[in-house]
Amino acid sequence: MKDLTPFRSRFPIFEHTTYANSCSQGALSVDVRRAYEEYLAGWDEHGAEWEHWVERAEAARGAFARLVGADPTEIAVTTSVSQAVSALVSALPLERGRNRIVISEFEFPTVGQIAHAQELRGAEVVHVRPEPDGRIPPERFAEVIDERTALVCCTAISYRTGYRLDVAEVARLAHEQDALCLEDSYQAAGVTPLDVRELGVDLLTAGTVKYLLASAGLAFMFVRRDLHRLLPTQTGWFADEDIFRMDISDYSPASDARRFDAGTPPVPNIYAGIAGMSVVEEAGVAAIEVHVRGLVDRLLAGLDELGATVATPRGEGEHGPLICVGSTDPNALVRALAEERIVTSSRDANLRVSLHLYNVEEDVDRILEALAGSRHLLA
Ligand SMILES: Cc1ncc(COP(=O)(O)O)c(C=O)c1O
Repeated sequence: MKDLTPFRSRFPIFEHTTYANSCSQGALSVDVRRAYEEYLAGWDEHGAEWEHWVERAEAARGAFARLVGADPTEIAVTTSVSQAVSALVSALPLERGRNRIVISEFEFPTVGQIAHAQELRGAEVVHVRPEPDGRIPPERFAEVIDERTALVCCTAISYRTGYRLDVAEVARLAHEQDALCLEDSYQAAGVTPLDVRELGVDLLTAGTVKYLLASAGLAFMFVRRDLHRLLPTQTGWFADEDIFRMDISDYSPASDARRFDAGTPPVPNIYAGIAGMSVVEEAGVAAIEVHVRGLVDRLLAGLDELGATVATPRGEGEHGPLICVGSTDPNALVRALAEERIVTSSRDANLRVSLHLYNVEEDVDRILEALAGSRHLLA
């Protein structure tokens, strides 16, 4: 097993804080700080470095492609998942007879709200709800995916409960009905190996804020090659076949996934994103997954000893780095932990504890000790 502990010293926050909130925002590394400084230094020294900035956008495209096992020509660079998914649905005809969008109940508001916005264009949105135990068996998807379905949206790991869905099976069910499958991997990218071919998804999106260890304002979308015929009506000049021709006589998008890009690339966030993704690549996602699994097992064992209620399904392959713990007052529990310099977050009636490559066993033990001290706030 690869030792990831040397990475921790690249994240200064651990000098004074136990950080367990990567599901909300990855910790800042010296690498990402340096990348921002490089961006500013280059701007200072050379003024408008357009050619270099465009080259950096291509480097980011390539880094995300490697992360998900795709070709760079199959990756769109966007400023958010919202922008990527909006561009995608703008390209779907949603014609009568194929106007259904299936979404899981664990979709982030990004996907859920964009799906419902398509009702204005005649779409019918169907929700797939979890079982009382917090799982969504693929059969629940099978019940509503039919010949009227244009798109199935599923989240790899729920930001609300940490539940990990069987995406490959959902993609297979979508394809049985000739529907497209979009995976939102925001809570998985950087901590769970993702391979678009193995998963069999048509589209996959994620951004850099969380386990990709960078900042807001940069996201990506994998678009399978044979979907490059789709024509997004939500677009921008960086989606054009020849950006620098400055042609306004027609709409002629790039022949590859770049047709889902939009306006001027988010250059500072691209610098940060490349640096964050390089840290992940250097550690290796497979090694990160093993490291995090060890920490999560330790956390779960400690939570059992405390008699805590774990909302996250615990079966093999049913969770990733995020564990949700039932609380009578989750906000008060987040505050109580913060007083001990432990950073977590909350959703619904749960405390969220999420672990990444920089966490170590002592972090887990500190969290458990603090929870024992706030036992009255555990459900
Ligand atoms: C699962 C998931 N999807 C999407 C997003 C964010 O989407 P956007 O980039 O549109 O802000 C988040 C972030 O909080 C998320 O957890």
